[in-house]
Amino acid sequence: MNNFAKQLNLALRQMYDKICSCEDGLLSPVAIDRGIHLLKNLSYPQTLIKDLPPGSGDVAFPCANPLPRIISLAPKTILDLGCGTALDALFCVSSLPELQRLKGLDASSKLLAKGEELLRHFPAEAEKITLLQVDLNHLSGYRIEASELILMNGSFNLIYDKVKFFTELAPLLATGGTLLIYDFILTEALPPGFSNEVDNWLWNIGGALNSAEFKKIVTDAGLALVEINEIERIDPVARCEIIISHEKRGN
Ligand SMILES: C[S@@+](CC[C@H](N)C(=O)[O-])C[C@H]1O[C@@H](n2cnc3c(N)ncnc32)[C@H](O)[C@@H]1O
Repeated sequence: MNNFAKQLNLALRQMYDKICSCEDGLLSPVAIDRGIHLLKNLSYPQTLIKDLPPGSGDVAFPCANPLPRIISLAPKTILDLGCGTALDALFCVSSLPELQRLKGLDASSKLLAKGEELLRHFPAEAEKITLLQVDLNHLSGYRIEASELILMNGSFNLIYDKVKFFTELAPLLATGGTLLIYDFILTEALPPGFSNEVDNWLWNIGGALNSAEFKKIVTDAGLALVEINEIERIDPVARCEIIISHEKRGN
């Protein structure tokens, strides 16, 4: 890992840990949509939001609502990479009666602790969920079973070496399975030097790829880019749903 990657890793972990510990909200003066307000703006179902215990949704940072897509795919096993406080994990288990297990991985011990606290309010759903502290930059260092669906809701652009990441991720996606990424895709080149600043990576822009770069990395890892659906354009990026499959041999 080079020096920039180490600095980025540390900055991300400190930022997300700190967001959890600041009583008045580290981000209260910053215009970054988050929490229940963001969940509502992204059209997460009110039926799920209303059951959340007070305060448990305050540090949600999803990029989009993945539930309609996940429900249509009806996976039996899910791996949520960068799961934060496990809100998507809980919502998936609540929405998919056939789901057998969901594993959520995140680097922030504080976000995971909040996730465990949330799950204590939902013991039946919690039986299917395991949360683990894992650095996504070193996925091959952990023993993780392959899953039918891998979700990355706002965590992909925070990965420094995306080629290495995809190589390590590919074996974790079951044959015939789907990788769903919700993140920003570049619609224009970023200003020169922009991505050399760690701070510009923290909110998912500095590490964004354009669609051609995305396709190359995916196909080089032996996976197939099915489609990129633009949800919202905010040039020089677009908030997107990216669907990737691990095709069966012969397809
Ligand atoms: C934008 S937040 C999204 C969180 C969650 N998916 C949600 O919807 O609230 C990005 C998440 O990625 C996690 N993350 C960033 N870098 C990571 C890494 N190297 N390994 C594991 N998790 C990481 C952060 O801790 C944070 O929880």
